[in-house]
Amino acid sequence: MHKLVITGGTSLEGEITISGAKNSAVAIIPATLLVDGPCRIENIPKIKDVKMFLKILENIGAIIEYIDDSTVIIDTSSIDSYEARYDEASKIRASYYLMGALLGKFKNARVALPGGCDFGTRPIDQHIKAFESLGAKVDIEHGLITARANELNGSSFYMDVVSVGATINAMLAAVKAKGTTVIENAAKEPHVVDVANFLNNMGANIIGAGTDIIKIKGVDKLPGGTTYSIVPDQIEAGTFMIASAITNGDITVKNIIPKHLESLSAKLIEMGASVKENDDGDSLRVKIDKKLLAVNIKTQPYPGFPTDLQPQITALLSQVDGISIITEAVWDSRFQYIPELRRMGAQIRVEGRIAIVEGVERLTGAKIKATDLRAGAAMIVAGLGAEGITEVHDLEIIDRGYENVEEKFKQVGAKIERVRITEMDY
Ligand code: EPU
Repeated sequence: MHKLVITGGTSLEGEITISGAKNSAVAIIPATLLVDGPCRIENIPKIKDVKMFLKILENIGAIIEYIDDSTVIIDTSSIDSYEARYDEASKIRASYYLMGALLGKFKNARVALPGGCDFGTRPIDQHIKAFESLGAKVDIEHGLITARANELNGSSFYMDVVSVGATINAMLAAVKAKGTTVIENAAKEPHVVDVANFLNNMGANIIGAGTDIIKIKGVDKLPGGTTYSIVPDQIEAGTFMIASAITNGDITVKNIIPKHLESLSAKLIEMGASVKENDDGDSLRVKIDKKLLAVNIKTQPYPGFPTDLQPQITALLSQVDGISIITEAVWDSRFQYIPELRRMGAQIRVEGRIAIVEGVERLTGAKIKATDLRAGAAMIVAGLGAEGITEVHDLEIIDRGYENVEEKFKQVGAKIERVRITEMDY
C-alpha cells in the first residue's frame, strides 16, 4: 500500500503528454471479442483497470501480445466460452461491456455483475433494455447476469436516460445482429465515438456516433487485422488543466483533442484563466496571471461539463474567493469526497445533489484519502494548491485510472512522492 506525499504551493509549469483514454480503452478491449482476427491497439493507457481487463480476456482464452508500454495485439478468435464470472470481472465497472461483446459474438453471455466506484445506485436497466430489444432474454441470478438469444435482430429503441455504458453496450450487441438497429437518445461522449470508429475500422457499419441517433447495420463478420489508436483521455487532460489553475501555473497539455475539453476550457476562461489552443491543434496551454473568480458548474452528459471533472473543479473552487454552486446532475451521490476537502479547511455545504462552495484564501495540507478515482485526483489537485504537506491515502484507487500519476505531476514541477505506507500510518 502506498500514499502520495505532496508539498503544496509550487506553481506547476511545463508540458505534459496525455495518455490514451481509460474509458475508451475499457470498452475497446472487450470490443475485440467481436473481431475475427488480431487487433493492434495503440495509445493504451498503462493503468490498473486496463491491466485487469486484459487479464479477464486472457482468462477466457484471448492471446495478448504486449508490444510496448502503450501497444498491445489482442486476438480473441480462439475464445469459445461466453462466461466471464471471474473475480476480476466483478471489480471493474466496465466489465459490463463483456455482456454486449459476448452476446454479440456468441448470442450468449454470462458475466459477473459489475463493481467500480460507488456513486449511489448504478442501475443497468438501459443495457438490459437494449439487449432485450435485440431479442435476448436477460436474467440476473447468483451475482451473474445472463443474456441469451436464438438470433439477434436489429431494432429501434429509445434510451430513457443518456447512458455511455448502455449506448456502447447496445452497439456491441448490435454490430453483428441481423438488419438495422437504431439507438435514440444515445450518449455522445468521445469514447462512444471512439468505440464506433474502432468497430468500423474492423469492418462494422455504424453511423451517427457522436450524435443522439446511432444507426448500426449488422454485418456477418468483422475481419479485423488493422491497427487502432485510442483517443486521448480528456479527463486526465482536464485534471492537469485544473492543477495548473489551482497552482497559478502555466501547463500545456499535449496529445489532446481541444474540442473534447471545451466545457472545461469555457469555465476556466469564465474564472479568468487564459486557455489557448496551440497552432499544432492538439495541445492547450492553461496559464493563470490574475485572481480567479467563483463560477457555477452543472455536470451533464457530453458536451456538457463532465461529472468526471466535478471533484477536481470543486477542489479548485474551494480556494477561489466567492461562492460557487456545483450541481451534480449525472450521479445521485458524487460528493463523498467533500469531508476530505473539509479536513483541508474547505468551506463546502452539501444539499442533495448541490454543493455550495465558499472559497477560502488557502487550503491547508492534511491527511486525506481517495474516496473514488476522480475524488482521488481532486485530492491531488487540492494538495498541490494547499499550504504545507498533504498525504493522499488509498492511492491504489487513483492508479486504476491515472498512468504514472506522480511521475507525470513531477514533470510539471510538482513536489510529490509515492511512499510505502508503514504501520505508523494506521
Ligand atoms: N443509468 C441508468 N440506467 C442505466 C445506465 C445508467 O439509470 O442502465 C444512469 C446512471 O445511474 C447515471 C447516468 O445514467 O445516473 C449516467 O450513467 P452512464 O451509464 O452514462 O455511466 P457509465 O457508463 O456507468 C461512464 C464512465 C464514468 C462516467 C459516466 C458518466 C466508463 C467506464 N465509466 O460510466 O466514468 O462518470 O460514464 O459520464 O466509461 C470515471 O471514469 O471515473 C467514471 C466513473
